[in-house]
Amino acid sequence: MSKLGTTEVLLNEKKLYKPSAKILKNAKVKQWKAVQAKAKKDPLKFWDDSAKELEWYAPWKQTFDDSNAPFFKWFVGGKCNIAHNCLDRWIGTPVENKTAIIWESDAGNKRKMTYKELNRAVCKFANGLKFLKVKKGDRVAIYLQNIPETAIAMLACAKIGAVHSVVYAGFSANALRERIDDQRAKILITSDVGHRRGKVIAMKELCDKAISGSQSIQHVIVVRQDGGHVPMKINRDIFYDALTDTQPSTCPTEVMDSEDPLFILYTSGTTAKPKGVVHVHGYMVGVHKTFQWVMDIRGDETYWCTADPGWITGHSYIVYAPFMSGITTVMFEGVPDFPKPDRIWKMIEKYEVNILYTAPTLVRALMSYGEKWPDKYKLKSLRLLGSVGEPINPEAWRWYYKHVGKGKCQIMDTWWQTETGMFMITPLPSMPLKAGSATLPFPGIEAAVVDENGKKVPVGKGGFLVIKTPWPSMLRTLFNNPERYVDTYWNKIPGYYLTGDMAHVDKDGYFWIQGRSDDVIKIAGHRIGNAEIESAIVSHKSVAEAGVIGKPHPIKGQCAKAFVILNRGVNPNDKLVNEIKRTIRSKLGPIAVVDEIEFVEKLPKTRSGKIMRRVLKAQELGEDLGDTSGLAD
Ligand code: WTA
Repeated sequence: MSKLGTTEVLLNEKKLYKPSAKILKNAKVKQWKAVQAKAKKDPLKFWDDSAKELEWYAPWKQTFDDSNAPFFKWFVGGKCNIAHNCLDRWIGTPVENKTAIIWESDAGNKRKMTYKELNRAVCKFANGLKFLKVKKGDRVAIYLQNIPETAIAMLACAKIGAVHSVVYAGFSANALRERIDDQRAKILITSDVGHRRGKVIAMKELCDKAISGSQSIQHVIVVRQDGGHVPMKINRDIFYDALTDTQPSTCPTEVMDSEDPLFILYTSGTTAKPKGVVHVHGYMVGVHKTFQWVMDIRGDETYWCTADPGWITGHSYIVYAPFMSGITTVMFEGVPDFPKPDRIWKMIEKYEVNILYTAPTLVRALMSYGEKWPDKYKLKSLRLLGSVGEPINPEAWRWYYKHVGKGKCQIMDTWWQTETGMFMITPLPSMPLKAGSATLPFPGIEAAVVDENGKKVPVGKGGFLVIKTPWPSMLRTLFNNPERYVDTYWNKIPGYYLTGDMAHVDKDGYFWIQGRSDDVIKIAGHRIGNAEIESAIVSHKSVAEAGVIGKPHPIKGQCAKAFVILNRGVNPNDKLVNEIKRTIRSKLGPIAVVDEIEFVEKLPKTRSGKIMRRVLKAQELGEDLGDTSGLAD
């Protein structure tokens, strides 16, 4: 098994990949060193200028306010709406006739929408939400696959000032229920069914299960993907088309304060309870600026981000950023290697995609099928490649560079998080690259690698990745849990935002991300907490205790392994293994299912009874156990 993402592999990679003359000539930011230096000197001025690239209803009185740190504010007093910048601003300009969305279904059906059509659909849906008495500040849960209605629903919420909360459609009914309950969502938007790898997924049925007995949900809006042959509860459920057909096609955009919440997105942390990360309308500033510069956005191009709208990448860089830039974005319901491993290459050729933004796990999966698949297609349209979600191992990086980019496309390895909202450590296209490094902090961002006391560690030495100063697209709090916000991100290394990642910096100042330092696993780029999986496992009636670790995996980057203590008198067998896996699937969803289960008699614990996952992991990987003085025995 290759040592994916480990320090040893990464440190060996010293070669610089320099941008071609053509890239350099056209890049938006050519003099990147000068730009970095200028932003470093006056980051507030940098963000202030960036904010002016968007439209505001009323200007801000103060760029940044830290009087109530770490509850920072940006563009204080500014009035705006991100939906205005995605849609309203284009209406009446030539952009309105441009294609906003190219959508392809799992089965290969196509839909296209211009900005004008998208705006119309958003207005109608926004009016529909108002008809259902949704008001500013109300929470709307969205449980949909990657279909245009997901973007329409998000934009419609933003337009009327409602707070959307998209739940990844691979989560189970139980996980959906937990998220809906936490935010007390008033509306749930879903579809009759979904499609994936040719299979039909019973979305509405799952939603019915998730909200049975819900105190907060008043209505369920159902998009008909397949005729709508699903049970509908009278007075509660309504089809999307029935709701929107009779609505007017214009709708005023609500004037929002820059600090008003835009969405809640649940993400995994170190405890079993997911965190509701809150982003505000002013988040648009960082998302727009990073997209413009990192993806080197020009006018008439087609961009494809293969993420799911249920994750932050889908929020910031499938929906908001491309629309704020007025470009064409590809949305895709299916998976890039179905029905055959050439699906992705076929689509790139067909839609003449210029920018492809994907995840290392997918690059590795496609790489495993061999280059004969991409080689069959004309990938000439590609100009820029992106990577996100986990460290990209140099082997996959080089394959992506050579066989997809044909040695001509720079790879933007963007490091960021649900919490950061925008790219944080990332190349700009004119920078020399090193395979496997996310390179340098974006202008205006100050990152560092420090020890547990907040002291910068020497070059090449691993440590905790922190962000030293706030940025406009940062999370503002955790929904209903400001204490957890302060504790998780700001208290451990006081004064700095703690990312939860380990990294090191090389002699050129390039950052190399090594993975999570906390108990979070990235399985195929999906973020899952060890504790979430453990809590699902112990809900099985035969299980007494469980400890879960992340292990390297050649395609997924990481996979999960569980060490399980069974109740007294229960004997381990294969049936139990399957049952436990089924329990995880039903509590959380398929992405969280562990690859391996080992039944054990004992788990390494601290004297206070906490499972030492670090020791379990070191044992499993045959690594040095490190400091074991805290072990109970
Ligand atoms: C990891 C995804 C290395 C990292 C946008 C981070 C990365 C977590 C990269 C956040 C990258 C993301 N290189 N690691 N380019 N991008 N990560 O919240 O561990 O789903 O903390 O946001 O993914 O995951 P999240």
